[in-house]
Amino acid sequence: MKISVVGGGYVGIVTGTCFARLGHEVTIIEIDAGKVAAVNNGQPPIYEIGLEELLREHAAKNLRASTSFASIASADCVFICVGTPPKPDGSPDLSFIASASASVGTHVKNRASYCCIVVKSTVPPGTTEKIVMPAVLKQAGTAGDAIGFAMNPEFLREGRAIEDFMHPDRIVIGSNSPRAGELVEQIYQGISAPVIHTSLSAAEMIKYTANAFLATKISFANELGNICKHLGIDVYEVMKGVGYDPRIGPLFLNAGAGFGGSCFQKDVSALVHLAKEVGEDPVLLQSVLCVNEQQPHRMIALLEGKLGSIAGKRIAVLGLAFKDNTDDIRDSRAVPVIRELLQKGAVVSAYDPMAVPPMQRLFPGIEYCSSAAGALNGADGCLVMTEWPEFSRLDKEFDLMAQRIIIEGRRILSCKGADGICW
Ligand code: UGA
Repeated sequence: MKISVVGGGYVGIVTGTCFARLGHEVTIIEIDAGKVAAVNNGQPPIYEIGLEELLREHAAKNLRASTSFASIASADCVFICVGTPPKPDGSPDLSFIASASASVGTHVKNRASYCCIVVKSTVPPGTTEKIVMPAVLKQAGTAGDAIGFAMNPEFLREGRAIEDFMHPDRIVIGSNSPRAGELVEQIYQGISAPVIHTSLSAAEMIKYTANAFLATKISFANELGNICKHLGIDVYEVMKGVGYDPRIGPLFLNAGAGFGGSCFQKDVSALVHLAKEVGEDPVLLQSVLCVNEQQPHRMIALLEGKLGSIAGKRIAVLGLAFKDNTDDIRDSRAVPVIRELLQKGAVVSAYDPMAVPPMQRLFPGIEYCSSAAGALNGADGCLVMTEWPEFSRLDKEFDLMAQRIIIEGRRILSCKGADGICW
């Protein structure tokens, strides 16, 4: 099939490249000419395991990028993958969705053949029906059956997105007609997964609900971990015993510094905002965010419990990205930690295998090191923020510290002597 993907951000690039892998003719439409050139040269503009190989295989063959919307005129399907960043009140900014829909509308005008417009961006329930459809149809000048609409949320984890795309747990397709739903299902032919057909709004809500539930599991594990810590109980032993119950499951019960990234915080906040708009008081969802905000401060409180005042002390922060295998620092738990350390007068030395450049832009004044050992050298305390596998092997490097005080925010170290945030 001929597929146009509007938006060459993280979701658009991964989705477009994986559709090319499935054999489709794909055009990624992106306003950033630098990204367009990179994709056409087979160079990924973002870091994602396996993406470079796939791009090299398909770029300039059945995968192209362009700043022009022209490919839409002959596309069987158009995927809208633009960003929905959070506004200060927690609600998502849908202006990119609205403008992308209008542009798509002008380019599907006067089409002779059927075309389906699919929203992949995470959007509040009702967005496809109330914003995307009218914007497309207004520009297209048709209200007929020539254009179908669908909502097909993504469930990709950063750092594992290609694997998640090719081997999904499920494919959710909300649509406004069986024809639209079937067309989207055909695109995924070759991928083995249950396909769930729903209404447009249910598909939109499924994405928010899934992320909110995963975030809830993490905050639940963290709250239990905080209690266990007082009682001298290892929360990882507890969650192992709990996770065997299939009604609970073993995943996403790792207690620690809390969740970061571009999705959980944003999507739970959007759901809170949505709940309030309809007159509900979402106490559970608000608590999920509240527990998450407190976890990084707990690490510093533990550090202060061992060091006393941290003013003037050299503190090593290992792990700057929101998790391992990515250079993404959005909502990383290292950000509030570094901010508080600086507020309290500490001298910060930081290391991450990939995320130093973006953190340098946020905190230009701290010392960035090219290795964990460099950051630990002479440090009075160390905070381990991210589950990078290379941190698990650290041991003698901690002897480079002025005093071996280690607070672990992820259960990753195999050496002795570290104090876990909730274990
Ligand atoms: C998350 C979801 O896992 C994806 O299914 C979803 O598609 C994506 O958001 C999205 O909405 O686009 P992602 O943000 O890439 O994916 O990262 P995760 O691997 O889910 O981790 C999120 C955060 O939770 C990380 O900071 C991680 O360290 C933390 N986490 C995860 C825990 O603290 N404990 C756990 O048990 C698991």
